[in-house]
This record gives sequence, structure tokens and C-alpha cells, in this order.
Amino acid sequence: MARRPLVMGNWKLNGSKAMTRELIAGLKTELAEVKGCDVAIAPPLMYLAEAEAALQGSNIVLGAQNVDTNVSGAFTGDISTEMLKDFGAKYIIIGHSERRTYHKESDEFIAKKFAALKAAGLIPVLCIGETEAENEAGQTEAVCARQIDAVLNSLGAEAFNGAVIAYEPVWAIGTGKSATPAQAQAVHKFIRDHIAKQDKAVAEQVILQYGGSVNDANAAELFTQPDIDGALVGGASLKAPAFAVIVKAAE
Ligand code: G3P
Repeated sequence: MARRPLVMGNWKLNGSKAMTRELIAGLKTELAEVKGCDVAIAPPLMYLAEAEAALQGSNIVLGAQNVDTNVSGAFTGDISTEMLKDFGAKYIIIGHSERRTYHKESDEFIAKKFAALKAAGLIPVLCIGETEAENEAGQTEAVCARQIDAVLNSLGAEAFNGAVIAYEPVWAIGTGKSATPAQAQAVHKFIRDHIAKQDKAVAEQVILQYGGSVNDANAAELFTQPDIDGALVGGASLKAPAFAVIVKAAE
């Protein structure tokens, strides 16, 4: 089955109103002709309004870097699925290793976010991946399976229908040391096979992005791999020309 690739930029804690407008203007020019790939950006939540306005008339879809599980009420500082929908955001990153590490988000909490997004009709981009120590201890598959199982066991395999998983080995994030195409492919195949044990059809269509030091020089080779369906890009998504090269490599 041919899966349509998705390249998404995760701006992390970077930007300003002016930068949001300028970067999106650059992306609209660079990516105007792109047809064979879905493209999304996730600016900081503060700039969703700016981004929504700037993206008008483009084929780039708005995403977000986080969501909370409550819909409304006395939850100071939280952001709901409905608020994200209000800005037209569609792809929502959850389970990023930076939130797992710095905000102590557990597998169970992330599964609740996944459920909230599905209930709201939004697309979860579930980040998973092992640390360097786990990798060296040969635990990559066990860690990825555990992080996926939190969703599989609470929501069932069908929850991954129309969803996205981003395999982001923690040791590759922001280090300039990407996984090799073969390394990434092996883990992507493991992830797809793991879901296929419960539902083959769901496993075949789930989008598996790779993330971790993807740039304009290494993207094309990563995308030659059969189970790599695009990328979740951090640093290189902050420069329109570099991000455009990555998107075009995925087409
Ligand atoms: O979510 C994207 C990410 O964590 C990878 O970041 O800067 O290594 O591309 P970077």
C-alpha cells in the first residue's frame, strides 16, 4: 500500500510573531508546487494565531507541539483539543522525549492525550524512541514496544487508524548524529510489525516518521527506506530552504 509521506516541522521553543510570519512566507514560496507529500508545521502554541493567518492559501497544514487532556474548566495553563481546533491545527505532537524527560510525562498520560486527540478528530503524532543508554543496552525494541503498548492496550489497534508515529531515538535529537537509514528502517519495521500483530490493515496505513537530526543532506537517503514515511524535523525546520529540500526529498 502506498502511504502518503508526511514531513512536519517541530519548531520547539523557537520563534516570535515576526519570525513566524517570515518563516511561513518563505515556506509558502519554497513549497508552492509540492504535491506528493503532506507538510505540516508546529510552531509554539503562543504563535498559532499568527501561523494560522500566515498559512492562509497554502498547502501547509498547521500542527501543535502539545495538548492537555481536559476540555475546559479550572486547569490553569492547560490547552485543550478544542482550542487547537479553533486555530485549525490538525497534527498534534505528543510524547516527545523532551516532554517525557523535562515534564515527566508517563506512557499512561501520553495515552490519555492520544485518546483526547482521537475523540476530538485530531491527528496524534506519537513520538517514541530510546535513549542512548537504552540503545547500548539493546533495549530499543522493548522501549518502543512499551511506548506503543500504552496506547494499544488502552485504546486498541484501531486508534492508530489515521494516526502518525514518529520514531525519534533520543540520542539522535539535536545531536547532528542521525540514525543511519538502515538503523531507522529496522526500528520502523519493528514498529509496523508490532502493530500488525494486532491489526495488519492498521499497521499498513500508519504513517511512521523518522526524527532526529534530519537535514537537507541526509533526508533523501532516509526516505529510500520502505517503512520511513517522512520525517519530524526540529532544527532544520527553522530554515525554509533546508526544510523545503527535506519535503521535496519525501515526495
Ligand atoms: O521533533 C523533532 C526532533 O526532536 C528532532 O530534532 O533538531 O534533531 O531535527 P532535530
